[in-house]
Amino acid sequence: MKILVTGGAGYIGSHTCVELLESGHEVVVVDNYSNASPESLKRVEQITGKKISVYEGDVRDRKLLERIFEKQKIDWVIHFAGLKAVGESCQKPIEYYDNNIGGTLVLIDEMRKHGCKKIVFSSSATVYGTPEKLPLDESCKVGGTTNPYGTSKYMQELILKDVYAADPEWTVVLLRYFNPVGAHESGLIGEDPKGIPNNLTPYIAKVAIGELQEVGVFGNDYPTPDGTGVRDYIHVVDLAKGHVAAIDKLNKNGVYTYNLGTGKGYSVLDVIHAFEKACEHPLPYAIKPRRAGDIAECYSDASKAERELGWKAQLGIDEMCASLWNWQKKNPNGYNPR
Ligand code: NAD
Ligand code: UD1
Repeated sequence: MKILVTGGAGYIGSHTCVELLESGHEVVVVDNYSNASPESLKRVEQITGKKISVYEGDVRDRKLLERIFEKQKIDWVIHFAGLKAVGESCQKPIEYYDNNIGGTLVLIDEMRKHGCKKIVFSSSATVYGTPEKLPLDESCKVGGTTNPYGTSKYMQELILKDVYAADPEWTVVLLRYFNPVGAHESGLIGEDPKGIPNNLTPYIAKVAIGELQEVGVFGNDYPTPDGTGVRDYIHVVDLAKGHVAAIDKLNKNGVYTYNLGTGKGYSVLDVIHAFEKACEHPLPYAIKPRRAGDIAECYSDASKAERELGWKAQLGIDEMCASLWNWQKKNPNGYNPR
């Protein structure tokens, strides 16, 4: 099938392009490179030996989308394009709602006009807000988000559900990602955050390579086994495969919601120690105050995806850390040459 991947040059998008191409799908990418480099797509082609049709531009650009849908016969859209930094979204709510909500509205309007009514949407565990229970399953309460990024994900889910309610010819797949980490085993593609990373694993990788001094552990007084925050880290390659499983499996119209996680929780200290094994040296860390907005624990019940899509995460925390370290060592400056 021919898949339009919005935001395909980004972290999860590039890994998903690899898995789609390796499963025999054709890939068309639209990306404005606001948080990515064209180099990532060249490397996807290098890994797979296959070509991607790439359009540089914004998903809010109607003319561009018209051109893409007219030229390419798109079967499915995987919609990754959006802004994702929680802290920044509190400073720039208008930009976040414009990009995330505005982008989705233009995209689905153009899809409808061109008779393409199958979409996989990148949602997040953040839509569950403070977990009602653990592990989180898809029937848990959503909403109660605490920042514009999270609220935009929740709103986009609602919009897509309404679209299906009005027109049952749509197939809407809402994939709620837990904490994607790691990199492709080739070390050719990976996460390339700008500036000082906000998320735990890219921060640890920069400490391991000596670029940052020590890992700040945000709180050790949570009600968790070692007092530090617990999350469901999922290897980005497993996550990418979840998208292929959804496209290959779901051939009936409807709205489908799946958690993509491993079902296992690891603490901040667990992750630091797993990374020490990968990089083969101790990592300095210091306990800091809790980070505002953080919750103690968040992990998934991912059994629905296994039952219905036949998808299950295969890779564990050691593979996540080893692949991230491989990417970090091979690309100390990410996609930018020194
Ligand atoms: P990313 O920033 O690496 O990828 C997003 C891509 O979209 C980038 O290549 C960026 O240049 C592009 N983009 C942004 N706005 C665009 C626009 N208006 N038009 C065209 N391209 C645009 O982020 P990622 O980590 O790969 O995340 C992909 C998606 O998954 C996002 O929607 C994100 O919110 C969601 N998500 C990510 C995580 C995570 O931890 N990484 C967790 C849950 C959900
Ligand atoms: C964060 C976002 C979430 C988003 C996800 C995307 C917040 C509150 N949540 O999730 O909405 O979908 O990123 O990747 O920002 N930690 C440290 N030191 C650090 C960084 C993090 O101890 O330098 C801890 C955090 O307190 C947390 C864990 O590590 O317990 C994971 O943090 P992070 O990688 O930022 O992910 P989340 O906060 O789970």
